[in-house]
Amino acid sequence: MVNFKDIKGFIFDLDGVITLTSKYHGQAWHQLADELGVKWTKALADGLKGISRMDSLEMILRAGNKENDFTEEEKIRFAAKKNDNYLKLIEKMTDADILPGIPAFLEDLVAHNYKICLASASKNSPIILEKLDLAKYFPTIVDPSKLKKGKPDPEIYVRGAELLNLKPEECIGIEDAAAGIQAINGAGETSIGIGDANELRDADINFSSTTDMSLESIEAKMKVNR
Ligand code: BG6
Ligand code: MG
Repeated sequence: MVNFKDIKGFIFDLDGVITLTSKYHGQAWHQLADELGVKWTKALADGLKGISRMDSLEMILRAGNKENDFTEEEKIRFAAKKNDNYLKLIEKMTDADILPGIPAFLEDLVAHNYKICLASASKNSPIILEKLDLAKYFPTIVDPSKLKKGKPDPEIYVRGAELLNLKPEECIGIEDAAAGIQAINGAGETSIGIGDANELRDADINFSSTTDMSLESIEAKMKVNR
């Protein structure tokens, strides 16, 4: 584990870390899975976290052994339908939907001159940051439509560090999904997992919720792990 003193930047996932849009992605996919006749399970729901829109659809079709049943056009229509449902679910989101501890943590990062970047797989993340009134904290956002591979591939976190002009070992990535932790680790950055410590057992550091995450608690955990 690197020394906390060498950390210069924080790269955030959005859905499930900054706000609970993860729940709405799940609901919208669940609805589509029902329509396609694919059984919805907790394993499928967990596996979809952090995965790009089209990769998620493929994962759902595979879970129902339907991966060869549809044309590309039909698949694009299914993904668009899911996104329409998702957009309806997030319509009324406001800054009241930011997860506890996140505003104070972002303020602390700014006060201590850390660089901040967003590395979400979601093409909707700029709208969500606006709704939450958090756009000012994220001048740097990785555009997921410019990437070759989605999480768990490290590309999005590698790009995040590049955009911040930092070395991977100077960055901490924060995620709520196993695929995201794999991406951070693959990029050579320090990973923080928020949520179920067993599901996120590959993370360098775990917090059960965003409430527990602060510069002090991260420093303390990094010291213990050295
Ligand atoms: C990730 C979510 O952040 O973004 C996934 O965890 C989602 O559930 C992915 O599928 C893509 O999001 P969008 O908004 O571009 O469909
Ligand atoms: Mg997430």
